Amino acid sequence: MYNDKVMKVFKELKNVGNLKGANGIGRVGNAACGDIMKIYLKINEDGIIEDAKFKTFGCVAAIASTSIATEMIKGKSISEALELKNSDFIQELGGLPPQKIHCSIMAEEAIKAAVEDYYKRIEKQQKNYIDEE
Ligand code: FES
Repeated sequence: MYNDKVMKVFKELKNVGNLKGANGIGRVGNAACGDIMKIYLKINEDGIIEDAKFKTFGCVAAIASTSIATEMIKGKSISEALELKNSDFIQELGGLPPQKIHCSIMAEEAIKAAVEDYYKRIEKQQKNYIDEE
C-alpha cells in the first residue's frame, strides 16, 4: 500500500515525543477516524522554529507525514512553516495512496494549531506585562 520512502520514514521516525520548553502546542483530531496528533514547537525570539516534536495516534500515513513535517519546519520561520501544505509533505514522502491523502492534512493543521497556541501565549505574556505596569 505504501511506497518504500513512506515505510522508511515510518520505521526511522524523527522527533517523536514531548518537547521540553515547547512554547507552541497544537492538538488536532481527525473526526473521520478518531486519530489524534500533537505537535510541539520551540520558537525563538526571532520567530524561528528551533525544534519540533510530535506524538501521533494514527495510521502509517499520518505518522510518517508528521515525522516529515517536523523535519521540514525545523529552522524555518513561522511564516515559512505556515506556507507548507500537506501536498509538500506528500511530495517529500514520494506520494501517498489516494485514500490516505486526508491523513497528511492533520500534520498541516497541527502546525497551524501550534503556531496559534504560540501567539496566544505571547499575547497572554504581553497582557500580564501590561497589567503589572
Ligand atoms: Fe486516521 Fe489516517 S486513517 S489519520
